[in-house]
Amino acid sequence: MQDKTFLMIPGPTPVPESVLLDMAKHPVGHRSSEFSAILKEVYSDLKEIFQTQNDVFVLTASGTGAMEAALANLLNPNDKVLSLVIGNFGERWAKIAESRGADVERISVEFGQAIDPSVLKARLDADCDKQIKVVTLTHNETATGVTNDVKSLVSLIKEHGAVSVVDGVTSIAALPCPMDEWGIDVLVSGSQKGFMIPPGLSFIAVSDKAFEVFEQCKNPSFYFNWAAYRKSVRDASTPYTPAVNLFVALHTALKMMKKEGLENIHARHKKLATALRASIKAIGLELFVKDENIASYAITSILPPEGISVPDIRATLKKDYNIVVANGQNALKDKIFRMGTLGFVCDRDLLAAVASLEATLYKLGYKFEPGAGVRAAIEHLAK
Ligand SMILES: Cc1ncc(COP(=O)(O)O)c(C=O)c1O
Repeated sequence: MQDKTFLMIPGPTPVPESVLLDMAKHPVGHRSSEFSAILKEVYSDLKEIFQTQNDVFVLTASGTGAMEAALANLLNPNDKVLSLVIGNFGERWAKIAESRGADVERISVEFGQAIDPSVLKARLDADCDKQIKVVTLTHNETATGVTNDVKSLVSLIKEHGAVSVVDGVTSIAALPCPMDEWGIDVLVSGSQKGFMIPPGLSFIAVSDKAFEVFEQCKNPSFYFNWAAYRKSVRDASTPYTPAVNLFVALHTALKMMKKEGLENIHARHKKLATALRASIKAIGLELFVKDENIASYAITSILPPEGISVPDIRATLKKDYNIVVANGQNALKDKIFRMGTLGFVCDRDLLAAVASLEATLYKLGYKFEPGAGVRAAIEHLAK
């Protein structure tokens, strides 16, 4: 059926109708007082979502643009970077750092695992002459569905003195990530995730310490220059022509988020993800992330049952029930499928998704007790 598609991928995520309607209006001039008033509120509301007193820069770029804007303003050639890699997106930090000529060392784990803080501690303790300038890490690894213990990891990085650069693309506005309380130096995110608007904007919040390091950067980015963005935030403007309609969308979405409240948003994500996992187990499927303590509240990775392929599950869900779920990435392609519970998702959406997944598996010949997953979800959501 036309216009019924429901995205249960970890981005882009569903967009509220009020946001869509607001962004459908004629573009406003980006130097107008009308737009400046919008920016003022957007910049202020973003600080609340990032839980920081630092300025939050808004870039007309996807999340990877913000990742590049982070490292391009910090690194000089041959600087030592330690990249904590638990999946594709952690590896992306390492590749961006290499593209800036940095000397990159990786701490990697098997996919499905998180970084053990004691391993990071041992490496940082061994860095007696403080060669490591920047440590990159991913809060919520979307490729696997694992959440790193950013609080503990960042506190170790802080103790060492390096700059912590955190990918919060699928964690901000989904899981707690209080920038100032945890002492994060640079925190990035993207619009098409917990922010409930389409792709095209990304965010980067920068601590005073990181800004001082930027001031020593010999060849900082021109388009994504932090000094230009800091000045613009303070003037309620943008350095260049931004995606104005997306800013209008963000303005509306941030108001919705404030109305719901950050704690309630986090609680909703936790409830939906844990309900989904309870129903997956009840259906008899295996979760890719075995340890519930590191399993993400934004995305759940699931193994298909024996004899049924991931492409068949995805195709049936899409064709018969208009629900889109994601494939695994790279080595995990066709080995897992990933269901997002990120952004504008409610109990009803989850119940519909679990019922549709059951109907899909039933059609594909999987032997289980139909209704078991829905029952588990109902019971979990009622708690
Ligand atoms: C954790 C994480 N980091 C970075 C990115 C890259 O963002 P984008 O695709 O918006 O460039 C994504 C995208 O899914 C992501 O999930």
